[in-house]
Formats: sequence, structure tokens, C-alpha cells
Amino acid sequence: MNDYTEEINRRRTFAIISHPDAGKTTLTEKFLLYGGAINLAGSVKGKATARHAVSDWMEIEKERGISVTSSVLQFEYGGYCINILDTPGHQDFSEDTYRTLMAADSAVMVIDASKGVEAQTRKLFKVCVMRKIPIFTFINKLDRDANDTFDLLDDIEKELGIATCPLNWPIGSGKEFKGVYDREKKCVISYSDTEKGTKEGTATEIPLEDEAGLRKEIGDAPVDKLLEEMDLLDGAGAEFDLDTVRAGELTPVCFGSALTNFGVEIFLKHFLEMATTPLPRKADIGMIQPTEKDFSAFVFKIQANMNKAHRDRIAFMRICSGKFDASMEVRHVQGGKVMRLSQPQQIMADDRKILSEAYAGDIIGVFDPGIFSIGDTLCMPKEKFQYEGIPTFAPEHFARVRQVDTMKRKQFVKGIEQIAQEGAIQIFQEFNTGLEEIIVGVVGVLQFDVLKYRLENEYNVEIRLENLPYEHIRWIENKDEVDIGKLSGTSDMKKVKDMRGNPLLLFVNSWSIGMTLDRNKGLVLTEFGRN
Ligand code: G4P
Repeated sequence: MNDYTEEINRRRTFAIISHPDAGKTTLTEKFLLYGGAINLAGSVKGKATARHAVSDWMEIEKERGISVTSSVLQFEYGGYCINILDTPGHQDFSEDTYRTLMAADSAVMVIDASKGVEAQTRKLFKVCVMRKIPIFTFINKLDRDANDTFDLLDDIEKELGIATCPLNWPIGSGKEFKGVYDREKKCVISYSDTEKGTKEGTATEIPLEDEAGLRKEIGDAPVDKLLEEMDLLDGAGAEFDLDTVRAGELTPVCFGSALTNFGVEIFLKHFLEMATTPLPRKADIGMIQPTEKDFSAFVFKIQANMNKAHRDRIAFMRICSGKFDASMEVRHVQGGKVMRLSQPQQIMADDRKILSEAYAGDIIGVFDPGIFSIGDTLCMPKEKFQYEGIPTFAPEHFARVRQVDTMKRKQFVKGIEQIAQEGAIQIFQEFNTGLEEIIVGVVGVLQFDVLKYRLENEYNVEIRLENLPYEHIRWIENKDEVDIGKLSGTSDMKKVKDMRGNPLLLFVNSWSIGMTLDRNKGLVLTEFGRN
């Protein structure tokens, strides 16, 4: 315990994940609206402006061919201090997106009610499951025609392997959307899109007991259907249990419409009550509780060239314990140095605010003169512990890289190694050769363009990329017990090694992975490497 325990305990740090277009941006904007961080109330213009601010920064980055920053937003609501970590979607999707999840204590998953679970959600979800962090689901766009509610829940359970517990239940959808039934309060909150964009809605609450009133308000058929579905659900649905939610095994689900601002505040309230305070983190000296030690943090993301004029690099760190004060000295454990962090700032979309203090749970960005790597630990000068590394996530696209001008070998190797060190790409070599042949693996294809652009602009090296057909990569978990040379896989399997010399296997399809495991008894493959 220390005297800033209260500050730390009111923090909730979560990542917001969704497939592109499910409504993540809209929901985030509505959250900010409740927190009063931006003023959107009742004005479409205000909404457009806020959106503009966020996307402008992205446009600039896209023009430069550099991956989109996951921005961090902080706001206050109901006594909580909330940090939202945005995870970019679309083709901007990269390993950074995964890493962002390493800095969050819980996740909000936004699902489009007419689509169900989509590819991107599935990928990000896997990381949440690996970390066992609580996941809160918002099924969005009920003001449009939606899939059957039971089917949507089934889809989450089957696709993601997590039990669901609906906190509310939609009554109709699209033109027939009548509102939601709040299972805890046992009342129907009727839908009116006069709430659109405004902070205070005018929803009417009608208790289920008042069946006559309910029938009058929303009609006979919807009430009959609701009663029938509630019967079914009470017999079949998972019981709500906070411990299971916190263990990441049960996801509370809310239905609503972010655009028309229906069901958002209720979701936010429930979510804040159930989400955890900043979680302890594993270090080489054991678990570190956020309130137990003075300042410590780990670097989860490095963003190069945030400002081209200055060619700067920003290291994003998640504070894991204690309080950060801009004037204090800290130890960079991996670098073996005690230093003051330069220009600590909070990055909100295109806006940067210089910070004087921050607490466990918060994310700060500091100027990086090229000394930090992903996974590095910072702590008080008297300490020397290290947080557990961040996993390396399996790239899904591979290409062979060659420099056009062979005389520029040195710049080429330096450039590609530095970019790999920042974590934007992963590089591999043929198993039995040196650096002559470099294979690059990326999580999102945009990263290939980023690599090409950056090598040309920052290192003056032109490259040619030849796409390779591999889609799956596996680290060999028991590499000391396996004779890599003798491994027999399918004919399209490729043996490579990473920069630390760890052996890996590249596969064209998942069938080949199965075949290889069958043919080599005792071989243990894993999808996540460790830094
Ligand atoms: P994303 O960040 O997950 O990619 O999604 P975003 O919030 O940008 O929303 C994608 C589109 O879906 C937007 O429409 C947005 O207005 C719409 N949308 C979000 N929530 C809801 C909802 O609850 N109901 C309905 N009907 N639509 C919703 P757009 O036309 O692509 O953009 P815009 O012109 O509205 O900005």
C-alpha cells in the first residue's frame, strides 16, 4: 500500500476491439461524450469534427506509409479514470495491434448485430484469451436488421469459445427495434432515437410486471416474443458470475446502438463496475502488485517518425506500479542506465499533452533516442527486476526481400534490423545460411509497404519484395529436444530461424502443420514466440 493507492484503484484500462465497421469509433465517441472529454452533445457537426480529429492523424500516417498509431484516450466518468486503448483495424492491422492488448487489463469487444463474429475479432480475441483478461461484449447496430439474438450468442460461444451472459435483451431490430429488457432491473427500456447524439436520453422504463403497460407501449407481438425468449434464456443461459468474468471465461453481453446512443451508458456503467483495477504483472522476482511498489513500467510499443521533421521515436509504456513523476530518475533495466524520461506525454489521437504525473494503469509516451526495445522494463533506480517479455505474434504474410543495389548491403541490413527491432516486422533467415537471404513476416500486409517506404526514405535503400505462399509460422517449443535437421514435414514446409537463432517452421496451410506434427512424434509447436 502507498499513498496513491486510491488513484491507482480508480483506474480502468481497456482495449477496444472489433472488426472494421462494427462501430468501435462510434462507441468510443459516445464513451467520451459521457465522460465529457469532448462535447458532441446533440450536434452532428460536433461528431464530424471529433471524428475528423482522430482520422486526420491517420491520413497523415497513411500518406507517409507508416502504420496507424493505436491512440490512447483518457477520460473521467463516475469517479473512475478510464484509459481506452484503441486498436487499429483495416489493413493497418499490425503486430502493434496485438501488443496493445498486452497493455490493457480488460477488453471491450464490439460486434455488428447483422454480422456476428468476424475475422479480425477472432484474431484479437485469441490474445485476450491467452492473457485471461475479462472481455465485455457490446452487440451494436440494433437499429438495423439484426441476426437472431440466440444465434448471435451461439456464434460468440462457438467461434470464440467463451460463455456469454446477456445483461440485457433486445426487443426486435431495425425498424421494429422496440428497446431492450434489462435483466437485472427486470424492466423494459423503450427505444427512441431522440437519444441520437444527446447525452440525456428520454428512454421510458417499464417494469416487466406491468404487462398491460408494456403491451400498450411496445405492442403485443414483441411482448409475447420477449416473454418466450426470457423463458428460454432462463433455462439455457450461463449464470452471471463475476469471478468467471474476471477470469476471462464468461463475457457479459449488452445490446444497443452506438449511433443512436442507445444502451451505451448502461454498458459503460456495468462494464466499469465489473472491470478490474490495474492488474498485477509477472516479473522475474514474482508478481508485482500495482500498489505494492514505486514506479515501474514496460515498453509495449515503439512508434518511429511520429514527427518527420524531428525523426523522433516514441516509446509507449504501460505503468504497472506506483506513480510516475516527470522529474524523477528511473532505471532502464535492459539498457543498464539510470535516467530521466524525456518529454513524457499522453498521446491522444493527434494531440499530445505533456504530463507531469501518471499512475499505474496509465499509458505514457516518452521520447526515445533509440535505446528502448519492446518489452523493456523501467523501474526505480534502486530496483533491477524485469517484466516478462511480450510475446512475438505469428506473422501471416511472408516475403523474400532483396536490395536492388547490392553495394548497399550494410545500410540494408542496418535498416531492416532497426525496423525489426521496433517490432513493425519480423525477420527470418534460411535455416542454414547467413543474412544473404532475408525473409520478412508481417501481421498485416500494409507493413510491407511501410518497410519499403522506410528503407527508401530513411536508409536510402531500394528493395524488391517477392511474396511467399506461407501463411502459418510455428516456433518449436522443445527445440533442445528436437533435431531440426532431421525434422520431416510436408514438401512445402520451410525451416527458418529468427534473429536470435531460434528455429521456426513456415507452412502454407494448417493441414501441413497437422501432418508435420503427425510425422514427428514429440514435436511441440507454438504460435507465440517470446521476446
Ligand atoms: P469502426 O470504428 O469499428 O470501424 O466503425 P465506425 O464507428 O466508424 O462505424 C462504421 C459505420 O457504422 C459508420 O457509418 C457508423 O456511423 C455506423 N454505425 C456505428 N454504430 C452504428 C449503430 O449503432 N447503428 C447504425 N445504423 N450504424 C452505426 P459510415 O456511414 O461508414 O460512417 P459515417 O458516415 O457515419 O461517419
